[in-house]
Amino acid sequence: MKIAVVGATGLVGSMILRVLEERNFPLNELIPVASERSKGKEITFNGSKYKVVTPDEAIALKPDIALFSAGGATSTEYAPKFAEAGTVVVDNSSAWRMDPDKKLVVPEVNASVLSSDDKIIANPNCSTIQMVVVLKPLHEKYKIKRVVVSTYQSVTGTGVKAVDQLNNERAGIEGEKAYPYKIDLNVIPQIDVFMDNGYTKEEMKMIQETNKIMGDDSIKVTATTVRIPVMGGHSESLNIEFENDFDLAELRGILAKQDGVTVVDDPANLKYPMPLDAHDKDEILVGRIRRDETQDNTLNLWVVADNLRKGAATNAVQIAEYLLKEKIVS
Ligand code: A2P
Repeated sequence: MKIAVVGATGLVGSMILRVLEERNFPLNELIPVASERSKGKEITFNGSKYKVVTPDEAIALKPDIALFSAGGATSTEYAPKFAEAGTVVVDNSSAWRMDPDKKLVVPEVNASVLSSDDKIIANPNCSTIQMVVVLKPLHEKYKIKRVVVSTYQSVTGTGVKAVDQLNNERAGIEGEKAYPYKIDLNVIPQIDVFMDNGYTKEEMKMIQETNKIMGDDSIKVTATTVRIPVMGGHSESLNIEFENDFDLAELRGILAKQDGVTVVDDPANLKYPMPLDAHDKDEILVGRIRRDETQDNTLNLWVVADNLRKGAATNAVQIAEYLLKEKIVS
């Protein structure tokens, strides 16, 4: 099994390499790929050194699977070229997510939609991933009518430049800016660009991607996405209205049984999920589970996950693992 990691020098790409190592992914050849700027740079993987190559050089090596995390423009240009060479692409960018011919996959929710016809598979937005894993079992049991989500997102979701901005501001150093405003000691209610309807693109991604992954356009979602000066992970406040009433103890049991979810909910002992706890973990942490007392059949909860891991790298590697397990790629 030959695996290419496109964007291997970036934040998500280097996390993909770590996750492949940790999970003992069965590969016998690794091809780290980045831009012309990084060509020849050495990457250490499982104790061996590998030289970074360009996308064109990687295509010529005919990898079985390519895990892409090098931005939308690189994916738009190169994913079809890899696919044409016989490589199955798992793409982290937003380039292919809403293409009706491409599958958008969170393994715990909808891995079964994948088949050998899928040559480019999209990995959802980080904020969407951690939300749908929680929504899925609740929708099956109680049928969701509407979700109101507000996010508190880590700077790592923006990339290396944003992490540098926060660190520089904390150290009092002038440097390049990833955001239009100071992020340290601040909260920025804008993620990605604004659309004509007044929502940001990140908010629209959460809405549209959720419907596509859940395979149900009847679920109404409205979102406010916010950047905060934190690095360990994204947090989300969810208000969920169901068609049917629920028993809170039973609902907790359903969440506790959900693959990929850990319930951390013990207010008496001040236990609830926080980004410092989610950091470097693959699990999605859920807590503050309580009834919305202002409306029937409605729930409030709080969801935290490491956006570089389950929100990006881990999800992509889990898709690749599924492709092998089901012999979609062999
Ligand atoms: P490079 O380091 O050579 O610029 P991040 O989002 O953390 O900044 O990472 C972006 C990743 O995408 C990096 O690995 C970067 O490589 C890679 N990348 C950017 N543009 C291209 C391109 N045209 N071809 C291949 N990789 C690219």
